[in-house]
This record gives sequence, structure tokens and C-alpha cells, in this order.
Amino acid sequence: MLNFGRARTQQRPARSSPFGGLDYPDPKRKGNFVGKILLAAALTALCIIMLKHSPTFNTPSPFARHEEGVIHVLVTGGAGYIGSHTSLRLLKDSYRVTIVDNLSRGNIGAVKVLQELYPEPGRLQFIYADLGDAAVVNKIFSENSFDAVMHFAAVAYVGESTLDPLKYYHNITSNTLVVLEAMAKHGVGTLIYSSTCATYGEPEKMPITEVTPQVPINPYGKAKKMAEDIILDFSKNSDMAVMILRYFNVIGSDPEGRLGEAPKPELREHGRISGACFDAARGIIPGLKVKGTDYNTADGTCVRDYIDVNDLVDAHVKALEKAKPKKVGIYNVGTGHGRSVKEFVEACKKATGSNIKVKYEPRRPGDYAEVYSDPTKIKRELNWTAKYTDLQESLEIAWRWQKAHRGGYAASS
Ligand SMILES: NC(=O)c1ccc[n+]([C@@H]2O[C@H](COP(=O)([O-])OP(=O)(O)OC[C@H]3O[C@@H](n4cnc5c(N)ncnc54)[C@H](O)[C@@H]3O)[C@@H](O)[C@H]2O)c1
Repeated sequence: MLNFGRARTQQRPARSSPFGGLDYPDPKRKGNFVGKILLAAALTALCIIMLKHSPTFNTPSPFARHEEGVIHVLVTGGAGYIGSHTSLRLLKDSYRVTIVDNLSRGNIGAVKVLQELYPEPGRLQFIYADLGDAAVVNKIFSENSFDAVMHFAAVAYVGESTLDPLKYYHNITSNTLVVLEAMAKHGVGTLIYSSTCATYGEPEKMPITEVTPQVPINPYGKAKKMAEDIILDFSKNSDMAVMILRYFNVIGSDPEGRLGEAPKPELREHGRISGACFDAARGIIPGLKVKGTDYNTADGTCVRDYIDVNDLVDAHVKALEKAKPKKVGIYNVGTGHGRSVKEFVEACKKATGSNIKVKYEPRRPGDYAEVYSDPTKIKRELNWTAKYTDLQESLEIAWRWQKAHRGGYAASS
């Protein structure tokens, strides 16, 4: 056992002390000590004076204060596919944008593109944070003055959600609650929420309208529906302006080639049809597997409603413009037309100029024959209609970006 008391008395010379058993300081050391304190105090005072005279000290960050005529939008998931495209449009339209993203699925490269396009102070800031951390989210809201939130951040693969449902309930439902609580606490008045046609499940009747019963059949759709319910319950007793947008199948990318869709390679197996087509065109996968050719559709393959990301972005901006306190708007965002998987593959072959190999296989359990939207309500109330409805053209634009960014945002070739 160590005995610190004995070791000390052995090393120190004995000396008398007016304070009984207490040590007294050596006057020479005391002088040094006081000098050091004075020096530190002087340096601190000097730093404070210099800081006070620096141009940024008295002016808080532009993101921290409301500014007349400037709408500050928090874009959660803004490093992701749809969030980055929406941020680009918001910046172009002179909104102030804060992106919060944990980069679990998104790309810092997309944020860099936006920062290079809009480097001026007070236009865009990026905050690396996880929305699952309520304390961090609360800090972000207390240090920034947001006027509106576009909540895109989510994990978003149906297949993955059946394998890891808790991840989906946590990331989608619970994190939406965190964001909503922070908005309520800090008086942020407008929420635009990213929802999905997966909340409808397998409706009997097509097209899907906003009053089609929501009976989701997988954890992804269920988690989104629960998040919607939380928002709707909260909105009944609040002044918040709420817009819920239920997207159909999103494709395409920025026509000027600045942004694209770049999911993490390890998520490829869960990916969407456009990603799979491009991967097949590049030879990353041997070909496409089309599951089911005996559905009750014109050519026997499944039919889906493909909405171009540029149209989707436009729907968000319109929703933001039309959002009103105490009002809730729920809208399908789709073209209103279904395209079969066969049609999609043919368009992709033409867009990529590649003779993609296609293997037709039996149906996959749980896939439904036809899903397409009725976009009448969003046209009537938000004056929105899809403009990028040429499937091949949307895919050509996306393919141009894919070809120029074979390694995603990390590298271009
Ligand atoms: N892509 C589609 O076809 C489609 C269809 C319907 C609905 N949606 C919805 O649109 C939204 C955006 O989808 P996307 O295709 O752009 O996906 P994405 O994966 O490209 O983007 C999601 C972003 O959210 C971020 N994120 C995830 N969890 C986070 C967390 N806990 N904290 C902070 N950031 C987090 C990711 O890093 C990523 O950047 C999602 O809510 C999705 O459910 C997408």
C-alpha cells in the first residue's frame, strides 16, 4: 500500500510553522505565482478587448437571428439525395439554409458543391449532428433562428426496414418526435414533412388519393405513418403550419449536373430501380432481375409512379410558400401516371446506351401490381404539376451525373 503522507515528510526538511501542522508557502514561490496570475489576467483582458473590437464579436452569426425578408430553413438530411437537391433550389431562391445531417447515408461532397455555389456569409451552414440526440438537437435550435423545417432525414429502404425494423422506428418515428419537440420549444412555425406512398400499403383502388386509407405493410411505411400521426395530433392544438408530402418513386437529378444520387455502395442491395439500372449499365452488377411478369397490368410487370426530383423539389417550395399557421396540408406528389418495370428498363437502356441484361423471375412476395397517384389535390391547392414527365429524359440527366461521378461524390472520372 502506498503511504503518501510518510513519503512527503521524509523528503521535506523539517521547519517550524505558525499554522500548526499546515505547510506555509515559500515567499519566493508566492511572488512567482502572483506574477503569473497577473500576467494571465492581463492576457485575458487583452484577448477580450481584441475580440470586442473584432468585427464578428458583436455581430452574432446571421444564422442566429431572424432577418426581415430572409426565410431561414432547417433542412434535415440535406446531404442526402432529395435534401441536397432541395437545398440547392432554396439557395437559388434566396432562402437561408442550415443543413443538419449525420452523414450516415448522405454525402459531404453534396454539401461541398452547395458551399462552393453559395459561399457568401449567411447563406448556407452545415451542422454535423444526429437527430437521435435530443440534447444536441435542442442546442442547434437554441443557437439558430429557424423559420421553417424541412424534415428529410431518414433511413429509407423498404427491404432494410423489414430486416431491421427497430432502426426504422427509431430513426423515423422517434427522431421526428425529437425534431417536433424542438420546434415547439423554440417556436419554429412551419414544418414540411417527407412522407411516402408506402404509408398507403396495398390499396385496392387506383389511383391513390390523399383519403385512400393508410394501411402500411412494412416497417418503413408504418414508421412514416406513425410520424405523420404524431405531427397531426400535435398540430390539432398548435399554431404550427404543417405540410405533409407523400412522395411516390423518386428519380432523376439536377439538369445542370451539379448534384446526383449517390447512395452508399453497401446499401446497393436495398437500392431502387434507377440505381440498379445504372449499376447494370456500368457492369457493376451483371444485369437486372425483374420479379414477376404475370401481374394484371398491360405488359405483366409491376406499375409505379416515377416522380422527377426536380418536380419534387418544386412541390416543397410551393408547400413552403403556401403553408399557413394552424393549417395542415397533406399531398400526394406523383405524376398521376404509372409506368411498368419493362417500360422503365427500356427507357434506361436508351438513356444509358447500354444493352442491359434482364432476367425475368417469379413474383417477389409482398409486391403489389400497380401504384400510382392522383395528384389533383396538389394541383388544385398548390398549383403544382409534374413537368419532368419524360422518363427517358430524367434517366439521361441522372446517367450523365453517374457517368461523370463513378465513385460518387468522392471522385469524378
Ligand atoms: N427516394 C425516394 O424514392 C423517396 C420516396 C418517398 C419518400 N422519401 C423520403 O424522402 C426523404 C429523403 O430521402 P432520400 O432518398 O433523399 O434519402 P437519402 O438517404 O439520400 O437522404 C437521407 C439523409 O438523411 C440523413 N440522416 C439519416 N438519419 C439521420 C439522423 N439520425 N440524423 C441526421 N441525419 C440523418 C442521411 O445521412 C442522409 O443524408 C426520406 O425521409 C425518405 O423517407 C424518399
